[in-house]
Amino acid sequence: MRLIESIAELRAAIADWRRRNPGGTVGFVPTMGYLHEGHASLIRRAAAENGLTVVSVFVNPLQFGPNEDFERYPRDAERDRQTAEAAGAGLLFMPAVSEMYPRPAATRVTIAGLTDRLCGASRPGHFDGVCTVVSKLFNIVMPDAAYFGLKDAQQVAVIERMVSDLNFPVRIVPCETVREPDGLAMSSRNVYLSEEERRQAVILFETLKMAEEKFAEPGMTPGALKAAMHAHIRRAPLAETDYAEVLTWPDLQPPADIPFDEMPRGSRFIAALAVKFGRTRLIDNRLLSR
Ligand code: PAF
Repeated sequence: MRLIESIAELRAAIADWRRRNPGGTVGFVPTMGYLHEGHASLIRRAAAENGLTVVSVFVNPLQFGPNEDFERYPRDAERDRQTAEAAGAGLLFMPAVSEMYPRPAATRVTIAGLTDRLCGASRPGHFDGVCTVVSKLFNIVMPDAAYFGLKDAQQVAVIERMVSDLNFPVRIVPCETVREPDGLAMSSRNVYLSEEERRQAVILFETLKMAEEKFAEPGMTPGALKAAMHAHIRRAPLAETDYAEVLTWPDLQPPADIPFDEMPRGSRFIAALAVKFGRTRLIDNRLLSR
């Protein structure tokens, strides 16, 4: 695996690989580093499905709000290098902020509609930052396929829409959430949790499991399901609900408040949660289909 810090060098390395491997495909896994097993599973999948796998590690300042954790976001470049290499990355791109943004970016990529709910409502500007950096990375790497974890399901829906609206020649591959043995979704932010917060954080997974069971009950409505999710989260005394929502998938719109079993067969929904433990905000979701 080769570690690369400059855009020009990365482009040259990928072009060289493509010249030497006609017809070969490039898989791309964009990350913000502090890689865990969830990232490793994306890299392994990309490596299994492509001739060359490019991983980026870049904590993108544009997607953090002024009072968010950009400065304290966990970083460990050496461990990331080892994890990416062991999982099968061929090129690891670790640019400095000055390489990605040599001057303040005057351009933003904004996806309307899908970004004003869930994390978009709690974190204004977040998805503009994500879509702007992902567009830049797609233009730099020009991958055939890009791999994203479904823990950030709204991010997957937004990026799929961006790729479709803007005709990026890349296939988006959504990948299952990887979980700790007790069900907590793996996240770089889990390291912020105290021992007691970590113990209670399993409430996200338990709430979604409950939601999936209730979703199948005759007569269950989106409104009643949402209320049950809010009530379930309150069982964890340290948990503060940011949002608990049931929306259509992948359009992320509020469904009509009629029983799910009266909705057309094949209708898809997302039950999504953001829960704070102290200053740590965790998200998780479950996709549900009729
Ligand atoms: O999911 C992430 O880690 C980030 O939002 C991404 C896609 C790497 C963009 O910075």
